[in-house]
Amino acid sequence: MNRLLKLLPIQFPIIQAGMVYVSGGKLAAASAEAGILGVIGAGSMKPEVLDQQIKKALTLTSHPERLAVNVPLLYEKTSEQIEVALRNGIKIFITSAGSPKTWTKILKEKGCVVMHVTSSPELAAKCEDAGVDAVIAEGFEAGGHNGRDEITTMVLIPQVVVAVKIPVIAAGGIGDGKGIAAALALGASGVQLGTRYLATQESSAHPAFKKLIVEAKSDATMLMMKKIVPVRLVKNPFFEEVKKLEDQNATKEELEALLGKGRARAGMLNGDLVSGELEAGQIAALVKDLPTVSELTQRLLQEYEIAVSTLPKKL
Ligand SMILES: Cc1cc2nc3c(=O)[nH]c(=O)nc-3n(C[C@H](O)[C@H](O)[C@H](O)COP(=O)(O)O)c2cc1C
Repeated sequence: MNRLLKLLPIQFPIIQAGMVYVSGGKLAAASAEAGILGVIGAGSMKPEVLDQQIKKALTLTSHPERLAVNVPLLYEKTSEQIEVALRNGIKIFITSAGSPKTWTKILKEKGCVVMHVTSSPELAAKCEDAGVDAVIAEGFEAGGHNGRDEITTMVLIPQVVVAVKIPVIAAGGIGDGKGIAAALALGASGVQLGTRYLATQESSAHPAFKKLIVEAKSDATMLMMKKIVPVRLVKNPFFEEVKKLEDQNATKEELEALLGKGRARAGMLNGDLVSGELEAGQIAALVKDLPTVSELTQRLLQEYEIAVSTLPKKL
């Protein structure tokens, strides 16, 4: 049996990624209904907003056991966010952007499943040492915050599979069933898809942002802001401002000043495509429509079967 299906109470080894401003209760509930892991991205949420979003998800799905919360460990409200999630009965956590040592033991003692996002085999081994149940190995292609070392998913997954004994979930640059088949061929037990689930009916991304993703070309994104926290951005006017500063060798402080406050909310949630920050992965170029989560998930399963059945048995 697939190792991720042993670990998580889901039907298919697919995780709808946690995404700031994009994966609220509605998206997570639709994912849980579709048989995959539905992840609420707590990163952008004050504890009371997270509370509302979990409660909303609980009213929208008959599979609360398939709901998870993603907690990036770089914000000051982490412990309150985790407390809120636990109080609402969440049993599955995906931590990211910080040390896996900080929360894993505490969450495991409370009977939770913990997965941590990593961008290198060395860090994956540290996650295993910290006691996580699985690692999500995220390549350079991925949307959102990213590793500094630019290791692509294709190269990262086989190395992580060798580095750890726990299940490996591949993330970054997967947007269809062929991509899922490729990730499993590389040794992953499952996949986490972000950008592809961003472009669905149920995500809370602004319609103008979703449209931009559907129209994206292969060169639509770039990894920026390595001096602060590396993040893959859509090339909009805000990106051009960041790029100009970086080309002038701007300091960390100058970049932080440009970033200011509320840029990500303005771009992704409120649809300010000019001065807002827009995070997406390279796979945006493959996204051509805005299906429902159920339609997309069924399509991924069919594409996977076709991809596997059409592979030559011998080279
Ligand atoms: C808009 C957006 C926001 C994201 N926000 C988060 C986040 O809050 N926490 C996190 O761990 N990863 C975040 N990510 C990364 C995703 O969880 C996921 O690993 C990534 O999207 C996978 O790559 P893909 O976009 O190529 O599918 C974000 C990605 C996107 C596209």
